Amino acid sequence: MSSCCHLSLIHILISDALLPQEKLKPCAADLRIPLSDGYWYNKSVFVPLVCKSQQWTIDQAARCLADKQIILYGDSTLMQIGMVLKNTFKIKHIISTFVFPMVANAVMRFKKGVLESDRLDRISQVNCSIANHVIVLNFAYHFGAFTNRAYLERLYHAKLAVQNLLSRCPKSIVLIKLSHPRDNESIEQSVHSSNWVFYDMNRMIRRVFGGIGVRFWDIWDLVISSFENINVHMNTRVIVQEVHLMLSYICPELVMT
Ligand SMILES: *[C@@H]1O[C@H](CO)[C@@H](O)[C@H](O)[C@H]1NC(C)=O
Ligand SMILES: *[C@@H]1O[C@H](CO)[C@@H](O)[C@H](O)[C@H]1NC(C)=O
Ligand SMILES: *[C@@H]1O[C@H](CO)[C@@H](O)[C@H](O)[C@H]1NC(C)=O
Repeated sequence: MSSCCHLSLIHILISDALLPQEKLKPCAADLRIPLSDGYWYNKSVFVPLVCKSQQWTIDQAARCLADKQIILYGDSTLMQIGMVLKNTFKIKHIISTFVFPMVANAVMRFKKGVLESDRLDRISQVNCSIANHVIVLNFAYHFGAFTNRAYLERLYHAKLAVQNLLSRCPKSIVLIKLSHPRDNESIEQSVHSSNWVFYDMNRMIRRVFGGIGVRFWDIWDLVISSFENINVHMNTRVIVQEVHLMLSYICPELVMT
């Protein structure tokens, strides 16, 4: 039947060289997940191996976001991103809203908190005719006690809203900031919100939002290898490196390396 096979030797070269930066693809949706997402070059610079990124200057960041409206809908870790964009990168006009799962009658301070999907639905064609919208979402630490079913339900609502938004405003960019491991200080914590739960959330997010153009901003390895105490709120040095990667996802065409 078949005129089968030559047996050939497979040569495998094992070396300790790092993947050269220029071989990386531009940051985009649905990138392959590498074995390692990168490494810290020194205590202040993280070198991502997931896609082509750079350390952005204030001017470069301004150029990237000049025609864009950046919107952050998510938890306090996303609010930290807003602070770094404002203070370190001098970006003005950031819309940032604390969005979290409402359970019963939540704290009044956060009474404006509604679903991500509601927020996305409120972005009209008129809104995005004024500026291209960059919407950053996260679904992380406040969902620790959710059942998978409830969590997925929330994700699917958000996915539908993202798809509707992208058909209304095709030039919009949607980024989802994935979780990173958090502090592990007590045995109780590992019961109600262990790091496995957050790792699993990342997998669910990739599965649910895959294939529709959403860019996954994964900072798990960046955080865990950061030489810092691992905490839900990482220190500014780490957040700044998260933002460099974020900008590389927002404006891959401006990345020079
Ligand atoms: C890390 O490396 C970068 C790039 O070479 C340099 O600008 C920075 O000062 C270094 N930081 C530390 C803490 O050594
Ligand atoms: C969209 O436009 C309306 C009306 O101008 C404004 O009130 C609202 O804040 C805008 N929303 C966003 C997300 O830009
Ligand atoms: C997390 O904490 C628990 C109990 O305090 C400990 O047994 C476990 O080894 C810790 N896990 C990690 C990854 O540090």
